[in-house]
Amino acid sequence: MGKSQFKFYQFKGNKPKIKKMEIEKKEKKEKRKNLEGKFMGGNHFARKSFRKSLRRGGISKISSEKIRINFPPSFFLVFLILFSFLSAFSFFSCRQTKSLNQEAEKVLAVAPNEIAIRNVVKEEVRYFIRRIYSDSGWEEKVISSGAVHKYKAPAGLEIQFERASGSRDYQLDPGRAYAFRYDEQGELELFEASHGREDAVDLAPFVPTPMAVVEKMLEMANVTKEDVVYDLGCGDGRIVVTAAEKYGARGVGIDLDPRRIAESQERAKRAGVTSLVRFLQQDVMKADFSQATVVTLYLLPESNELLRPLLEKQLKPGARVVSHNYEIPGWEQKQIGYEVVTTEDGTQHTIYLYRR
Ligand SMILES: C[S@@+](CC[C@H](N)C(=O)[O-])C[C@H]1O[C@@H](n2cnc3c(N)ncnc32)[C@H](O)[C@@H]1O
Repeated sequence: MGKSQFKFYQFKGNKPKIKKMEIEKKEKKEKRKNLEGKFMGGNHFARKSFRKSLRRGGISKISSEKIRINFPPSFFLVFLILFSFLSAFSFFSCRQTKSLNQEAEKVLAVAPNEIAIRNVVKEEVRYFIRRIYSDSGWEEKVISSGAVHKYKAPAGLEIQFERASGSRDYQLDPGRAYAFRYDEQGELELFEASHGREDAVDLAPFVPTPMAVVEKMLEMANVTKEDVVYDLGCGDGRIVVTAAEKYGARGVGIDLDPRRIAESQERAKRAGVTSLVRFLQQDVMKADFSQATVVTLYLLPESNELLRPLLEKQLKPGARVVSHNYEIPGWEQKQIGYEVVTTEDGTQHTIYLYRR
C-alpha cells in the first residue's frame, strides 16, 4: 500500500474505512506470512532473518510477484551449497588437526595425560612431586643428568625442588614437557621443553624470533640469492621463508615437531616460495646441513655448545652462523660481530655473527 492511500484513510476517519484498513493490514500480514513460509522452507532461523529484512524494508521495493517467482529457489540453493561447503571444510580441517596432533604426540613422546621432566644440567636433581586431585602424598625423586622422567597425571602435577636461593614450587600441566636447566643467574630452574623423547636432545622450546630480529639476522649474515640458509630448530619457518622471499635464497628448515613443519610449509605456500625452501622433520643433532652457507640458530646456550662440534665438522670454511640471543661457547675467535635490536615491546635482542 502506498503512503498517499494510507493518508486518505486517516483523513476520512469513519469506522467502515478504518475497518477496511484493518482488513487490508490483515491481508498484508497473511501475504507476508505466505511469502516467508514458502521461501524459507520452514527453517526458523532463516525465516526470522527474512522477516527482519522485510521490516528493515530492504526488499520492499521489489514487487511481491517478483519475489515469489525468482528469489526463493536460488537463495535456498546458495544457502545449501554454502552450508555443505562449510560442513565439509570443518570436517576435513578437524580431521587434519586431529591426525597432526596424534602424530605430534607420537613423535614428541608426551601423551595428553602425561608429563615429561628432563634433566639438562650436569648434576643429578632431587625433587618432590604430588599428583593434583589425588590422595597420594608427596613422592621424592632423583633424576640423573640427561634422563627423562614421565608421569601419568591427567589433572597435572605439583613439583618442588631446592635451589641456592630457596625452594621452588610449580604446577605442571598434562600433555607438556619440562626441563631442568640453569637460568641466567646460573641457578637451577624448571623451563618448558619441546619434547619428552629419550633418544633426542631438547634444544629449546618453541619461541619464535621477532620479525625485526629475523630481518637483522639475515642482513648481518649478508644473505644473497647464492646462499643456502639452514635454520636448525626452525619453528614456524619464518627465517628460511624470509630469506627466500626477501633475497631469493634457497633454504632448509629442520625441526622435530611435526606441527612446526606443517606451519612452516603453510608459511612458504603463502609467501609463494615453495620452490626455494624445504622443511624436514628431523632431530637437528642427526641432520646433514653440510650444504649450508648460512646457519641460523635460536637455541639455548647449552644446545649451542652441543651443536658446536657438528658445526665444525659439517660447515665449509667461510660459512656464516648467526645466533639469536645466545653465544656459541668456544667460538670466541670465530665471532666477527654482534648487534643489539630493541623490539617494539622494549625487549633487547643480541645477535651474534660467526664465520666458520
Ligand atoms: C626457540 S625455537 C626457534 C624457532 C625459530 N628458529 C625462530 O628463531 O623463530 C627452537 C625450536 O627448536 C626445536 N627443537 C628442539 N629440539 C630439537 C631437536 N632435537 N631437533 C630439532 N628441532 C628441535 C623446537 O621444536 C623449536 O621449534
